Amino acid sequence: MSIIQVEHTMLNDPDHVRLAHEPKYGHGSAFIHGTYVDLDNATIPMSDLGFTQADACYDVVSVSKGYFFRLEDHLERFDKACAKFQLTNPYTKAETVEILNNLVKQAGTKEAYVWWAVTRGAMPDGDARIDPSAYNNRFYAFVVPYVFIASDEQRTRGIELLVSKQYIRIPPEAVDPTAKNFHWMDLKLSLFEANAAKKDWSLLCDANGYLAEGPGTNIFLLKNGALYTPDSGCLEGITRKSALELATRMGIPVHVERVHLEQLLNAEEAFLTSSAGGIIPINSVDDTILGGKLGPGELTTQLHNLYWTQRWEGWNGVAIDYSKPASV
Ligand SMILES: Cc1ncc(COP(=O)(O)O)c(C=O)c1O
Repeated sequence: MSIIQVEHTMLNDPDHVRLAHEPKYGHGSAFIHGTYVDLDNATIPMSDLGFTQADACYDVVSVSKGYFFRLEDHLERFDKACAKFQLTNPYTKAETVEILNNLVKQAGTKEAYVWWAVTRGAMPDGDARIDPSAYNNRFYAFVVPYVFIASDEQRTRGIELLVSKQYIRIPPEAVDPTAKNFHWMDLKLSLFEANAAKKDWSLLCDANGYLAEGPGTNIFLLKNGALYTPDSGCLEGITRKSALELATRMGIPVHVERVHLEQLLNAEEAFLTSSAGGIIPINSVDDTILGGKLGPGELTTQLHNLYWTQRWEGWNGVAIDYSKPASV
């Protein structure tokens, strides 16, 4: 079995290609605290604490073949993140869904990366800054064509992963990683470290060498036919949830528990999961070729392909009605 060329399908298959849209939405569409705008003209007020202090939570849902994937799960995770950070979405769930649908339609995207956030808003005057209820939280969203962490070519050969030597993932006691947040400097600098080492992507551990997560990704490994992924120190990814479900359906035993770096280095197969690319096979970790065999492992390939074929059959999908124009 070979890796499905998902990117190629998205760009060429008539069921996937982008629909007609106003040229100004070429790069994407956005919603800035009440106003729809094309992405090129979308700006954030400088005084917003989301910008100056990373004081925000966000989520990303993907669209493929005109279906949102697990939209309800993403909205639920987002609600929980707001509560954990004492943020309030100024829009109801129904309004949020309407905004996201409108943005996808404006951009004409059947394959989309759909981002939204609630920020703290501007600093209130004087002493009120210590009172979360004194802030007017703001909602922002944008839609761009689907984003892949790893291209068809990279997923076909399996990526070369670097486990960061310079950084650990910010500890859960500092910022709760289950609430999707803007604290990305550890993730971002580990990517540059991977680039300097001529690797494709990075992964961070905690201070004790247990696997945490990578930039935009969760980590999985296969050993003796069983699947392992960390139970803590990471975002509870919706693609992670999907991979666990698919693996269970395939009869693969799954273990959600603490996983040490040594286990990854001794794994037969491994992959990353993300809304930005689905299941991403790993060829090597640092300089260790997993399972002593080049390329994506057999079970990883099966999971990768099942993830996309299921999605394209509407699995956990919410269809977007492109026949009705955006109600903006
Ligand atoms: C830090 C982090 N970990 C994991 C993930 C994967 O989560 P999901 O599968 O919901 O996209 C993301 C997604 O962007 C992320 O930002």
